[in-house]
Amino acid sequence: MNSKSLEKVAYTKPSITELEVEYATDAARNGWGEKCYEYIARFEKLFCDHLCAKHTIATSSCTGALHMGLTALGIGAGDEVILADINWIASAAPITYVGAKPVFVDVLPDSWVIDPAKVEAAITSKTKAIIAVHVYGNLCDMDSLLDISRRYNIPVIEDAAEAMGSVYKGKKAGTLGAFSTFSFHGTKTITTGEGGMFVTNDDELFETVSTLNNHGRAKGQTKQFWADMIGYKYKISNIQAAIGCAQMERIDDLIARKRDIFAKYYERLKDLPLKMNPQGEGTINGYWMPTIVVDKDVPFDREKLIEAFQKQNIDARVFFWPLSMLPMFDDKPENEVSYDLYKRAMNLASYHDITDEGIDRVCNVVREALT
Ligand SMILES: Cc1ncc(COP(=O)(O)O)c(C=O)c1O
Repeated sequence: MNSKSLEKVAYTKPSITELEVEYATDAARNGWGEKCYEYIARFEKLFCDHLCAKHTIATSSCTGALHMGLTALGIGAGDEVILADINWIASAAPITYVGAKPVFVDVLPDSWVIDPAKVEAAITSKTKAIIAVHVYGNLCDMDSLLDISRRYNIPVIEDAAEAMGSVYKGKKAGTLGAFSTFSFHGTKTITTGEGGMFVTNDDELFETVSTLNNHGRAKGQTKQFWADMIGYKYKISNIQAAIGCAQMERIDDLIARKRDIFAKYYERLKDLPLKMNPQGEGTINGYWMPTIVVDKDVPFDREKLIEAFQKQNIDARVFFWPLSMLPMFDDKPENEVSYDLYKRAMNLASYHDITDEGIDRVCNVVREALT
């Protein structure tokens, strides 16, 4: 069969029901004037309640939330921030926005997230924060990172953009660090089109980021158009937040479906020489993105697998490159796990409405490539 006649299997797309349409329509019709922040406040409250966190600030992106959080921590020129080499650029770019330097360390071979031993070895007098990114839903070793944080008095930030539904020893991802950030880009477990969330249990950080996100106008300031500091404008719109409210009302189902899709892949692929997203003891993986890493001793050509997916009209999505390979950073081939991992790994299609037939088609391509 020619690939065009096969139904497309997209790697992600959001789950949008009548509820999202209804809320967005209401916001577009009525959410103006005095009501222009109503859905935003409701979205922040629903998110707070879901995480069991103290404070949330909805933003226009996760990138913006990270930028403000780093600024609120006072990180600036000459400082260093440690994060894993395997990551999306959005976790590193905000470090450069504040004039600091991202320091890339290697990842753990089984969970593909930051290696705490490598973090500790990279700490210098300039280190001002550690960013723990729960890549593809896989949780970082938070006990070890928080222990380092206490011993060196360096805050741990959680970039939980990919970790809706992931739970670490009874606490939801995004509630363990000094602050955390989430993304609601259209590829994520919940979406607002574009959007993000800043989350913290720290009253002072919350106040500072609230002020920063309002162009530096402090909450109690009574003078009109008076800014108390240079701030930013990373606000979400009421219409986007309306979609977010509907998604949060469906959050348990949206997370359950991601876990269900992963289980279906695992069942079909478990006899092959590959590993999938781990679920460490005492943790729940939200499985944002089911991923395969082919065993080292197995001949595997990532480009050929991409081609085979394309022939079957299936979206192929590569694993993150080590960020230190990008032209704006210095190479770090000593991050041996990262420099080996990406070549053997691929993300699998996992949108909420994928059918069993779609999952079978993806698995057939993987099986053919490995047998
Ligand atoms: C781990 C991580 N951090 C940050 C981001 C950036 O999110 P946004 O596009 O909402 O700025 C993403 C989204 O792709 C992400 O996956």
